[in-house]
Amino acid sequence: MDLQPKQQIERLRDELNRHNYNYYVLNSPEISDRDFDMMMKELEQLEKEHPEYADPLSPTQRVGSDINKAFTQHLHQRPMLSLGNTYSIEEVDEFVTRTRDALMGQDFTIVGEMKYDGTSISLTYEHGRLVRAVTRGDGERGDVVTDNVKTIKSVPLTLQGSGWPEEFEIRGEIVLPWKEFDRLNAEREFNEEPLFANPRNAASGTLKMQNSAEVARRGLDAVFYYLLGDNLPADNHYDNMIAAKEWGFKVAPVMSKLHGIDEVDRFINHWDTARKELPVATDGLVFKVNDLRQQLNLGYTAKSPRWAIAYKFQAERALTRLQSVSFEVGRMGIVTPVANLDPVLLSGTIVKRASLHNEGIIRSLDIHDHDMLYVEKGGEIIPKVTGIDVSARQPDANPIQFVTRCPVCDTPLVRIEGEAAWMCPDKEGCAPQICGRLEHFVGRRMMNIEGIGEEMAVILYRNGWVKTPADLYTLSRHSRDMMLLPGMGPRTVERILDGIEASKSVPFERVVYALSIPYVGETVAKKLARAVRDIDSLMNADTESLTLIDDIGPRIAESIITYFSNPDNREMVEQLRAAGVQMSLPEEDESSRTDLLKGKSIVISGTFSHHSRDEYKEIIERNGGKNVSGISKKTDFVFAGENMGPSKLEKARTLGIPIINEEEFLKMINQ
Ligand code: IVH
Repeated sequence: MDLQPKQQIERLRDELNRHNYNYYVLNSPEISDRDFDMMMKELEQLEKEHPEYADPLSPTQRVGSDINKAFTQHLHQRPMLSLGNTYSIEEVDEFVTRTRDALMGQDFTIVGEMKYDGTSISLTYEHGRLVRAVTRGDGERGDVVTDNVKTIKSVPLTLQGSGWPEEFEIRGEIVLPWKEFDRLNAEREFNEEPLFANPRNAASGTLKMQNSAEVARRGLDAVFYYLLGDNLPADNHYDNMIAAKEWGFKVAPVMSKLHGIDEVDRFINHWDTARKELPVATDGLVFKVNDLRQQLNLGYTAKSPRWAIAYKFQAERALTRLQSVSFEVGRMGIVTPVANLDPVLLSGTIVKRASLHNEGIIRSLDIHDHDMLYVEKGGEIIPKVTGIDVSARQPDANPIQFVTRCPVCDTPLVRIEGEAAWMCPDKEGCAPQICGRLEHFVGRRMMNIEGIGEEMAVILYRNGWVKTPADLYTLSRHSRDMMLLPGMGPRTVERILDGIEASKSVPFERVVYALSIPYVGETVAKKLARAVRDIDSLMNADTESLTLIDDIGPRIAESIITYFSNPDNREMVEQLRAAGVQMSLPEEDESSRTDLLKGKSIVISGTFSHHSRDEYKEIIERNGGKNVSGISKKTDFVFAGENMGPSKLEKARTLGIPIINEEEFLKMINQ
């Protein structure tokens, strides 16, 4: 007998949920990927044919969407506390003793778990369905990131088994497994994007991305370790976690019941090294009193429970001798001190250099010539210098002095106002700055000119062929000389010249980024380009018009104005323009323009669900309206999303300015 579409849909959803669980939680798939995909396609098709049975928690809804959606905030029903933590086994032992005393001789069990190094999450389920995922935020309120969390395949959208409370919360950690972390960073390296320092940053950065389709691609996972609510299935933590496992959650796989100090210490000693074999990053262990009644008895301090403690692993560190400090000059002229070290083995790699960041750090550590330095790799990629063994200092050692002149071009350094950094001001004459700007200009995310890397940029500059990015477009004049360079042949030269030619069609927003305007990174460049639309408007913009653009503050505005007040930069722009580089965004499709908001001054505020605020600003302009930043008598209306600031709301009310919500606005522009 054929099933009714509704039953067929339900059956497929159940099946797919089960296979998801087998694959992502249990790591033991029962069917092939291909069969899984076919089942998914079948469900997608049926759901398309029967929109009346749509369900946001269907397994087809895990893919995420490309809509940029700002997050709304949610007040945690139960605040998300942190744990008291320690680096010493003795203090963990004291915790056990303290607990024994407080429980006045009652028997008690401690559950030992890993402390996962990701970003914490709270999920709320009602009637077996995921209703909300919220980040920790400040512990009181966090961001609602349900759409992003739904893309994590091991998170159950609907629960399996039985016995779950009607309403409950489960907390855990969103993590990026090492494998995915390495893959992501390799990809970022290829794309010349900044690398994530550790899986924790990568996980929290990913979770806060506005594009859930991209989140879905990143390979996040989630581990759960805390169940909260009334009517929990058991009166102890351990059994509650076992129940959660049966409902489909990926529960922390390391969970041991321990009795007394000896067992606790043994657990610590074991996992201190065994944790290195785990597929996800951990930064310590957590010990919890198992019995919920005893937990209640022990209670809480203002910040953390008295029934639990975190033991943090000591970051791996090594002691090695400082050979010298070198000072490196970057593309923006910032001088960075780098410690050159006697090579030393640290967490499996040989470390020879460590960044000292800035003068302040050299001073605060009080580093002297040939000091013995502690270097650490606390889950970060680049090791850092964290201390000194002063007893090993040679009596005649001098403190390290920060250079006062540029180590490359000898120009006296200047201090960047309000920052710890020193800078070489000779933008036009200092080789690493010139070559750094060239290298940036040709980068994959900027003009994407292949064949020119760090070395080639230096060669082109040393030979006097290229000094500014604009000179690249006359490089063909030197093609004969280039072919004579060691290791270069006609093919390589041709590839470079082809790349330069192709860069003429790179969109304007990437050209803006490629210019190396201080403080104008990729995102800012995009916002600028979309707001001003062409280079002339950007070159002639004043502080006021620039700061009206989203995310552009006075510091960035000032930096843009300073950049274009330099005649050399203006000349370079003209040369780039003459060469045929894109200096404006393509003309808008005129059919999308209307006069629906003609002459209206509109203040936009808050967060929206159908488009991002930036998109709405563009929509306002395309419909003839004007974006203004502050509410005044001249404002026609305030376009308000969620979480609009109370003072703005108040001001609009006192001035009697109409407040329009998202739905009303979309109606106004016939959408
Ligand atoms: S229990 C009230 N268990 O560590 C205590 N937390 O500093 C609730 N964490 O914010 C937390 N692994 O993000 C607990 N096995 C574990 C954990 C764990 C990692 C994180 C969590 C929390 C922080 C506490």
